[in-house]
Amino acid sequence: MGFSIIGTGKSVPGHVVTNEMLSRFLETNDEWISSRTGIKNRNVITDETLLGLASEAAEAAVSDAGISVADIDMIVVSTLQGDFVSPALSCLVAQKIGSSADKVFDINMGCCGFVFALDLADTYLSAGKAECVLVVCAESLSKLVDWTDRSTCVLFGDGAGAVVLKKSDNKAEIITKIEGGYENLYIPGRMGNSPYAVKKDGSEYLAMNGREIFKFAVSSIVEDIGTVLENNSLSCEDVSYFLLHQANLRIINFSRQRLGQPEEKFPHNVENYGNTSSASIPILLDDLNKQGMLKKDDLIVFSAFGAGLARGTCLIKWGR
Ligand code: ACO
Repeated sequence: MGFSIIGTGKSVPGHVVTNEMLSRFLETNDEWISSRTGIKNRNVITDETLLGLASEAAEAAVSDAGISVADIDMIVVSTLQGDFVSPALSCLVAQKIGSSADKVFDINMGCCGFVFALDLADTYLSAGKAECVLVVCAESLSKLVDWTDRSTCVLFGDGAGAVVLKKSDNKAEIITKIEGGYENLYIPGRMGNSPYAVKKDGSEYLAMNGREIFKFAVSSIVEDIGTVLENNSLSCEDVSYFLLHQANLRIINFSRQRLGQPEEKFPHNVENYGNTSSASIPILLDDLNKQGMLKKDDLIVFSAFGAGLARGTCLIKWGR
């Protein structure tokens, strides 16, 4: 048993921020950002809520799947931080789209959230505990980065991507791994206002050692793609598309070159959206789906890396 992705959707905020706009208040420029990352634009939340983006992406995926919301019996939402600490964003999404699914979860797996959510869904589908799962990845990194830190804030964007999964005979191969350690990538927790807590100095925003994450990303992607293909007696040549976490075009190109594959098999949209964390792969998948680029029985690989340090790679067969 496995699953088929039968619908995709996305939603991004209306405000587009160009590299030139960033250079008006940061010591940066389009040349640096474009050449180091490939990013040109990103969408940033102004008056939207993450719940609004997540629900729009979910409804688009349900519509694309040609099913009714009533068919969904499980919802997994991947987010670093919803609009509220509690209740979970998945509960709010269920209510907003009119779903009566009773198995709902939020997961906080950073940029790997989509692959970890697929693994969770696959487990429930295979165990017969669900028939039709909605996975929504919704992220608002603009609230988590320091907008005075040019080395991080230029990299990220906000958005949501969603897929509908249905139980099928298409077996998915998914590997997830955790290496532990937070020093190279973390977002501090809230301090709270307990009168007993000893306050510590330091930023409350995302901190990253970009060079270490770059090396971790390329080595994980190449190794894990090799493993999922070997486990299925396949080679890169059998795969139609490799959809990597959209963090940096140079990471995508380094990985592609190490795997000896042509550019057209590594589609990307990081130039349009920046790094939207766990939403990046489902947003890219929706773009390809809506452009009619995916054919029945195409083999597709998703591969992501991020805070944890976590890594996850998934091989699926496309088809409804
Ligand atoms: N504009 C201009 N100059 C800048 C900027 C900027 N926006 N940011 C940094 N610089 C400067 C630095 O200050 C440094 O200057 P110095 O040499 O005078 O000290 C110089 O540019 C080089 O900085 P590096 O950090 O060495 O640049 P590098 O080539 O490594 O690129 C980058 C940095 C783009 C962050 C890269 O390391 C990277 O992409 N790493 C991976 C990050 C990633 O993928 N994160 C996503 C996973 S985490 C998640 O998704 C939540």
